[in-house]
Amino acid sequence: MKYMGNVYDMTNKKFIFLTGCAGFIGFHLSKKLLDNEYRVIGIDNLNDYYDVDLKKKRLAILKKNKNFFFKKIDISNKTKLKLLFERYKFDIIINLAAQAGVRYSINNPDEYFNSNIKGFYNLLELVKNKNIKHLMFASTSSVYGNQKSFPISENANTDHPESFYAASKKINEVMAYSYSNIFRVPITSLRFFTVYGPYGRPDMALFKFVKNIINNKSIKLFNNGNHFRDFTYIDDVVNNIFLLIPKAPTKKDNYYQNINICGSNPQSLKKYLNLIKINLNKNKIKFKNLPMQVGDVYKTYGNNKNLVKKNKYKSFSNIEDGIKKFIDWYKNFYKV
Ligand SMILES: NC(=O)c1ccc[n+]([C@@H]2O[C@H](COP(=O)([O-])OP(=O)(O)OC[C@H]3O[C@@H](n4cnc5c(N)ncnc54)[C@H](O)[C@@H]3O)[C@@H](O)[C@H]2O)c1
Repeated sequence: MKYMGNVYDMTNKKFIFLTGCAGFIGFHLSKKLLDNEYRVIGIDNLNDYYDVDLKKKRLAILKKNKNFFFKKIDISNKTKLKLLFERYKFDIIINLAAQAGVRYSINNPDEYFNSNIKGFYNLLELVKNKNIKHLMFASTSSVYGNQKSFPISENANTDHPESFYAASKKINEVMAYSYSNIFRVPITSLRFFTVYGPYGRPDMALFKFVKNIINNKSIKLFNNGNHFRDFTYIDDVVNNIFLLIPKAPTKKDNYYQNINICGSNPQSLKKYLNLIKINLNKNKIKFKNLPMQVGDVYKTYGNNKNLVKKNKYKSFSNIEDGIKKFIDWYKNFYKV
């Protein structure tokens, strides 16, 4: 990094500004970047939506690398963000900080408004007119709502978000499009489909299922387990984000693109559960069948042709290996 008067210029080094670095995807992406000679300035507010200790443990691993710099900042705090942007000049920014979770958004919309809408707006305001090379941000397959035809391509209608979480991400995409269009900030919205793997989120199904099964507790099956998800292994997600960094949208795309990040291989929740059962050596699992939850969708199944074409990436992990890796990590991490 080069000091220029009162500003550190990161543009001549492989420097990345990453928000949400203590989160599940942010942690793995930071590791990938650090392993590939990038320097990462990571921020996170370390909120207690789920176990803060897990976030701190992820951070402790990242902090061992001398090319990782951490600041505890909330993206909804424009003053603090602004100070950071006055001090450092970034040209690649990846925004993963957000309040995640579909179900939590039903009773806690404020969190989504502050982090996802206001926080992302703050970032957009700070990057405009700054010659940013590429801003990437986390969107979600939830923007598609309940679709009838599959696989879902990026052109599918996204006007019917089923939850406020989905609505907040759709708002991100619309705001981003306008900033790309007006200020020519090249922006990519990464539409993630159910990401899973080691160091995964405790509020997500895989983590909850494994934890409850190990503790001989019953697991809740919404819609009687009648769901399909395009489960995407974390390594495939970070490898693809990494490959997309130099592929910013250009004038012909109006400086904006939505990209599905998925393996395009939906699996039934029942098969997913069965694999967990096999890996945990259990003969029987206790269920509690519950109706479909408000905000939930029956099936996610993305078309990944755009992604594969851009990145020439075809080696998506299979669910058998992915679940095994998660369970190996879980047992080792929690000593069970
Ligand atoms: N994991 C998935 O399956 C999935 C699917 C679709 C979209 N996404 C999106 O991808 C992104 C990363 O997801 P994740 O699974 O790693 O979630 P995560 O909750 O593990 O990571 C998000 C991180 O952002 C931080 N954060 C939240 N609000 C913040 C704020 N206002 N300021 C600063 N930091 C803040 C949190 O403390 C957390 O460490 C999120 O935007 C999420 O909505 C994830």
